[in-house]
Amino acid sequence: MTSGVEPLERVRERITEVIASSSIPEDPRHSTNTLEWLLKLDPGADATLQLAALGHDIERSVDARKVIRADFRDYDAFKAAHAEQSAEMLLEILQQCGIRDSALVGEVYRLVCLHEVGGDARSDLLVDADSLSYFDVNLPLYCERNSREESLRRCVWGYRRLSERARLIAAGLRPPGDELAVLMGEARVRAAG
Ligand SMILES: [Fe+2]
Repeated sequence: MTSGVEPLERVRERITEVIASSSIPEDPRHSTNTLEWLLKLDPGADATLQLAALGHDIERSVDARKVIRADFRDYDAFKAAHAEQSAEMLLEILQQCGIRDSALVGEVYRLVCLHEVGGDARSDLLVDADSLSYFDVNLPLYCERNSREESLRRCVWGYRRLSERARLIAAGLRPPGDELAVLMGEARVRAAG
C-alpha cells in the first residue's frame, strides 16, 4: 500500500494501472477521455461520478474476467453483463484500497451498472460522456477491427442513447478521414429515423 496517497487517489491509480494493461488499444485513452467529457458536461461532477467514468469499461482490460460478445445472442444482454462485470471489478478495487464509505461504493457500483442505459440524471450523464468519447476517440480503431456494417450498427446504437444536448455536441465532432465522416453522417440519419 502506498503511504501518503489519499485512498481515492489510490483507487484512480489502480483503475489506470489495470486499464493500461488492456489488449484493446483505445481503452486507456477512452477511460481518461470519458472522464474529460464528464467534466465538460458537468464541471462539478463529484468523485463518485469521476471514478465511474474512469473505470466503467474496466472488465475489458483483464482477459480472464472479460465478458465475451459471442456468449450472448442479444447485444443489450451482452452490454448489461459487461456493465455489471465492470461494476464488480471496481467494487473489488474500492475494497482493496480501503474505501469504507458504503454510500460512495454503492453509488459507483450503481452508476457503472447503468452506464450503458442510464435512467436518472447522474447515470444519463455517464452515458453521454461514454458515448461522446466513443465518437471522439474509439471510432477509428473500432472501424479498423470491424466491418462497415458492424461499425455503422455500433454508431447508430451510440447515437440513439445520446441526450439531445450530447447529440448536438456529437454532430460537431470531426472524425479523421472522409469515410468516417460519411459513416457518422449515415448513423445520425438512421438514429433519427
Ligand atoms: Fe465506454
